[in-house]
Amino acid sequence: MGLMDGKSAVVTGAGRGIGQQIAYVFAEQGASVVINDLEPGPASETAAECNRIRGGSAVASAGNIADRGYTDQLMKTAVDSFGKLDVLVNNAGVTRDRMVHQMTDEEWDLVIDVNLKGTFNCIRSAAPYMRDTAKKELETEGQPRYHRKVVNFFSTAAIRGNPGQMNYTAAKMGNVGMTRTLAQEWGRFHINVNAVAPGFTDTRLTKPKEDGDGVLGVPKAIRDRMIANIPFGRPVDPREVANVVLFFSCYLSDFVTGQEINVSGGHQIP
Ligand SMILES: NC(=O)c1ccc[n+]([C@@H]2O[C@H](COP(=O)([O-])OP(=O)(O)OC[C@H]3O[C@@H](n4cnc5c(N)ncnc54)[C@H](O)[C@@H]3O)[C@@H](O)[C@H]2O)c1
Repeated sequence: MGLMDGKSAVVTGAGRGIGQQIAYVFAEQGASVVINDLEPGPASETAAECNRIRGGSAVASAGNIADRGYTDQLMKTAVDSFGKLDVLVNNAGVTRDRMVHQMTDEEWDLVIDVNLKGTFNCIRSAAPYMRDTAKKELETEGQPRYHRKVVNFFSTAAIRGNPGQMNYTAAKMGNVGMTRTLAQEWGRFHINVNAVAPGFTDTRLTKPKEDGDGVLGVPKAIRDRMIANIPFGRPVDPREVANVVLFFSCYLSDFVTGQEINVSGGHQIP
């Protein structure tokens, strides 16, 4: 028996990092998963691993969640492949860090389009399959058959404020507002809507900037300072975030909605 047996899920940005671990844990727990990523290669590799090793059933869908036409197609893929859509995880995100006085329109727009509008696009595109199906069950059977789940992402950096991330922190706190609003709009349809804030998590977004392409990552000195402030003494493992997403995605959280959890190893937020 798995915690996600019989469930059909879409996970965005699941080609690597936290999203990939969410896909793996869902597959291990019996879910059928649509693996979205902007990049086709990582999406296909994650889907293949879910099918081959993790015991679940997965299909890959490459595309940009900032594009509403694509997100309509993404949600339809879940229904075409697995017959329904029960769980939506809005994990995909991107950074383009720069101090505000130097930030370009392109850096602002990209980060808002993916992290904020991308979540909105996915939720709106999922509505016909999640909200409308639950509404029909409510009208014909007296109540929705079970709880469906939406899990959004924000960030401890956004709660705290983070120099160089005006665009990212604005987008991520917007996800908190969307979570609280959607929990109220869709509560009567028994669709739980919650949000997870990873702390400093070991993915390409937090690798030393000096070791990468200079676009993603965190300067080494800041990175060391951030890790020193984590009481558990190390960055979060992506799997540890995935486990909390699993809680929000399965029956264990059926009476929890409109809530946020930080997965930060105790990193204090003033
Ligand atoms: N790593 C951290 O410390 C940290 C902290 C707080 C919040 N987060 C959030 O957690 C989530 C996952 O981050 P991660 O660290 O695993 O990042 P990551 O860069 O390792 O993985 C993100 C994935 O999203 C994909 N993606 C980017 N833009 C996309 C788009 N427009 N459409 C579809 N897919 C797209 C990327 O190709 C990538 O595979 C993000 O929302 C991020 O903001 C991460």
